[in-house]
Amino acid sequence: MNIFVTGGAGFIGSNFITHVLGLSQEYSIVNFDKLTYAGNLANLDSIASNPQYTFIQGDICDPAAVAAAMAGCHTVVHFAAESHVDRTIDDPAPAIATNVTGTFVLLQIALKLNIKKFLHVSSDEVYGDLPLGTFADENSQLRPSSPYSASKASSDLIVRSYVRSFDFPAVITRASNNYGPFQFPEKFLPLLITNALEDKPLPIYGDGKQERNWLHVTDHCRGILAVLERGRIGEVYNIGGLDAIENLTLARRVLRATGKTESLLSHVKDRPGHDRRYALTCEKMERELGWKPSISLDQGLHKTIEWYRSNTAWLAGVRGGEYLTYYQKHYANRGPSGQFIAESGRNSPER
Ligand code: NAD
Ligand code: DAU
Repeated sequence: MNIFVTGGAGFIGSNFITHVLGLSQEYSIVNFDKLTYAGNLANLDSIASNPQYTFIQGDICDPAAVAAAMAGCHTVVHFAAESHVDRTIDDPAPAIATNVTGTFVLLQIALKLNIKKFLHVSSDEVYGDLPLGTFADENSQLRPSSPYSASKASSDLIVRSYVRSFDFPAVITRASNNYGPFQFPEKFLPLLITNALEDKPLPIYGDGKQERNWLHVTDHCRGILAVLERGRIGEVYNIGGLDAIENLTLARRVLRATGKTESLLSHVKDRPGHDRRYALTCEKMERELGWKPSISLDQGLHKTIEWYRSNTAWLAGVRGGEYLTYYQKHYANRGPSGQFIAESGRNSPER
């Protein structure tokens, strides 16, 4: 099977490519990635010279480039996106371009090229905030809150329209918060880990009582492959992890696991429109495809901390100029007294 992967130099995409190529020589992969700030070919060093793997740099919004690169592929797994909620609140335009228009371009070309299956990777954020005690299944209403989640919900609906209107062979997956190796440290869990390891403050938005469900990226990759191989055309599949936890509790666990004290916790200005709680039911994945998550947060967290501890060169590579500029700009005025400057060590605002 020749798979066209978009966004394969990002966190989940690179884990997926490595996972699939490690399983069998039956797969060949074309990785099409623009290499934005989030794309990093170093994530793929272990398979870069694998004859089953090809990398093409390109933008999913560019129809000619997509058509040339996708020709000869049988299936598509579409990861490419602007994936960080905070950045899409600062500036929604890139997310609308890549997540909405880019998905539309891919669908148009895939339809023309008679692609056999198109897997659109989406998010549990499309369901929006869920009251305590409730869970979203695949038929729940889409109620996105941020430009990011609205762009993902929009692309989900465009994919759905292609299935209905053009008999297009697409499936959609909606996953919860991923974590694991190669995650860019703008996201909460790698930020907690890397800051804790360096005795820097751990920024907690608002009261930290927001709840997220954590899915190890390897479990997610197994789920995506199961849907690609056996998922029913036109269907949506929720993919969630074993553990739901409040942000503040997660931060405390990271501090315990890294041997640091709670003095590093730093409550900062909340994210605008911040969703309090996401929660999925994933029975369909188990019932139809025999998939369930296997890595508990406890196991996964320890492995991930060890990974960041051991991969300091990778970390130094991704925390260059762009990251520092973003970090300083994003966190500079978040502290209660405006002095939250993570680069300078334990310069934490009042807790
Ligand atoms: P990421 O930000 O780490 O990687 C995104 C990749 O897409 C990068 O390699 C980037 O260079 C590439 N890209 C961005 N714009 C592009 C464009 N216009 N053309 C080609 N390539 C482009 O993202 P991630 O965390 O790996 O997420 C991957 C997918 O999974 C996204 O669609 C995201 O919405 C979805 N998702 C993520 C999570 C999570 O917790 N990270 C959870 C559920 C769903
Ligand atoms: O739920 C799936 C989604 O998970 C994916 O679709 C997104 O691509 C992915 O980025 C992630 O979105 P979140 O907004 O949940 O992830 P993030 O890591 O940005 O934040 C997780 C929680 O931690 C959230 O409640 C916000 C909070 N947070 C985040 C940061 C960066 C903080 O408290 N402090 C921070 O500094």
